Amino acid sequence: MTHQVYLSDRPQRFTVEDDETILAAGLRHGLALPFGCQSGGCASCRVRLSAGSIDYAVEPPSLSPAERDAGYILMCLARPTSDLTIELHQPVQIDNMRPRQLPVRAQAKTWLAHDVLGLTLKLPRGDDFQYLPGQYIDLLIGDGRRRSFSIANKPNGETLELHIRVTPNGRFANWAANEMPDRAILRLEGPLGAFYLRDESTRPLIMVAGGTGAAPIHAMLNELLARGSGRPAHLFWGARSLRDLYLDASLQEWTARHPEFRYTPVLSEPDAEWAGARGFVHEAVLAAYPDLSQHEVYLSGPPAMVRAGKDAALGAGLDADHLYYDSFDYAFQTWPTLG
Ligand SMILES: Cc1cc2nc3c(=O)[nH]c(=O)nc-3n(C[C@H](O)[C@H](O)[C@H](O)COP(=O)(O)OP(=O)(O)OC[C@H]3O[C@@H](n4cnc5c(N)ncnc54)[C@H](O)[C@@H]3O)c2cc1C
Ligand code: FES
Repeated sequence: MTHQVYLSDRPQRFTVEDDETILAAGLRHGLALPFGCQSGGCASCRVRLSAGSIDYAVEPPSLSPAERDAGYILMCLARPTSDLTIELHQPVQIDNMRPRQLPVRAQAKTWLAHDVLGLTLKLPRGDDFQYLPGQYIDLLIGDGRRRSFSIANKPNGETLELHIRVTPNGRFANWAANEMPDRAILRLEGPLGAFYLRDESTRPLIMVAGGTGAAPIHAMLNELLARGSGRPAHLFWGARSLRDLYLDASLQEWTARHPEFRYTPVLSEPDAEWAGARGFVHEAVLAAYPDLSQHEVYLSGPPAMVRAGKDAALGAGLDADHLYYDSFDYAFQTWPTLG
């Protein structure tokens, strides 16, 4: 049996076939719906169900009970059991930023920290690749494999900056660090994800990053502060030790130049001389903001950090409508096809 899906903030509607997910059907109809992994892991396809009912073939692993209670569903796993209405909660300009594939040239690479490689990709001349700060790309690395990396710079029409954590067994990261030829041509797909600033809100921002989770938040803050919106933003950046705080100097400089911006580095394995915040980054957030009911929270980094941060923020009274996150899951072994 087919069902209709209506969008609360768009005129379009689409039909979902029997046994089809909402995401697969929406993309088949050419809609610009947010998505990433297509397998329940990243929550990029999280939307609120405002009317109707759905079923899951498998339980959505990346939604917390509080998000489910607030009416959120994952479109890549949800199948309608009635006609329904969903709230996309995304700006209209995203409708013109459909993910597409394009070649890019590796222009420069540099070690930002002992295990973080900065990679600059040059966009093809004249290509109008657009994205919102905070979004990510997939690098297509052959045999249907892909690796996701957030774009760390605000759009400049020419280059994309990536912050790549190089782990001992990381296949792409080690190739990029040690074997990638100069000026290598790579293929990417993007822009992807729904992790970007919601400008319609004026709530004070709490940004929480773990490790290279600083990359998308760096792009967002860069855009926000350059625009001079005056919206207060407090970044908490969790890392193991001082040598991992690879953006520390520029973030300190932003605090000096922008009174609306605050920055708290948090170390989990602090060096002897460290006098700043210690422990898990979400604990430092709660210590500073025990009540988050009037804030908007953005989280990005390792899955465990994002899970703990979500639970902590919702537990401190944050409205799930003002919670956004990018969970840096490791690459999926296989890439599910739509259908
Ligand atoms: C939406 C999204 C955005 C992301 N953005 C970034 C980003 O900006 N920067 C970034 O560094 N990563 C980011 N990631 C994570 C990155 O895509 C994965 O870590 C990816 O697997 C790295 O590819 P690789 O080939 O180097 O390692 P793989 O060959 O995929 O990994 C091999 C093994 O290494 C281990 N491993 C891989 N990555 C990590 C890690 N980060 N920490 C601990 N162990 C690991 C795992 O055990 C894995 O099985 C993002 C992920 C998602 C989903
Ligand atoms: S969870 Fe649905 S696209 Fe990743």
